[in-house]
Amino acid sequence: MPQNILEDLILRIRQAAASEDRVSAIRALLQESQADKEELAEAIAAFEEDEVMVFEDETCSIWTCRYFADVVFAPHEHCMGVHIAVYRGTEVEVLYKREPGKLRHGGNSLVKAGSVVRLGPEAIHAITADGNAQSHAIHVYEGPLTKIERSLFDWTTGERVAFSMENFHAMARRKASMAEFS
Ligand SMILES: [Fe+2]
Repeated sequence: MPQNILEDLILRIRQAAASEDRVSAIRALLQESQADKEELAEAIAAFEEDEVMVFEDETCSIWTCRYFADVVFAPHEHCMGVHIAVYRGTEVEVLYKREPGKLRHGGNSLVKAGSVVRLGPEAIHAITADGNAQSHAIHVYEGPLTKIERSLFDWTTGERVAFSMENFHAMARRKASMAEFS
């Protein structure tokens, strides 16, 4: 059953997140999990919603994430490190730096199936997929993501907007309209 392999991975991530060298432990575990990327992608495909929080406590938050290539979700911060393991398709991290009165585009990082990356606590990214298929990934945050106050950032001015899933989706843009992809 594909769902069991995901449940097993969640248990092992929780152990890694509670360990002393948790950043390396989570990274190593996610790299190891790529050996089962087809099964994990199937388990993520089985969820009704594109983004599902499958676990959270004080040590970590674990989400399954699917993105489409034509929609780009708004720039935001996490205020903690996040590990991204892509099991199907290609997820795109659209990176930004805040400057007075604006957001400066810092390039796009394509994370292909089979890859694991980590964004540090200072990172600001918008998020989408590349190619024709939805991306399928796990995001592991190094703390209780839903318990902290964090921000989205206005695309043009870089002003802070309180993070909520509602605002996150409402501020999404069509990729075809964006200079970052031209
Ligand atoms: Fe994010």
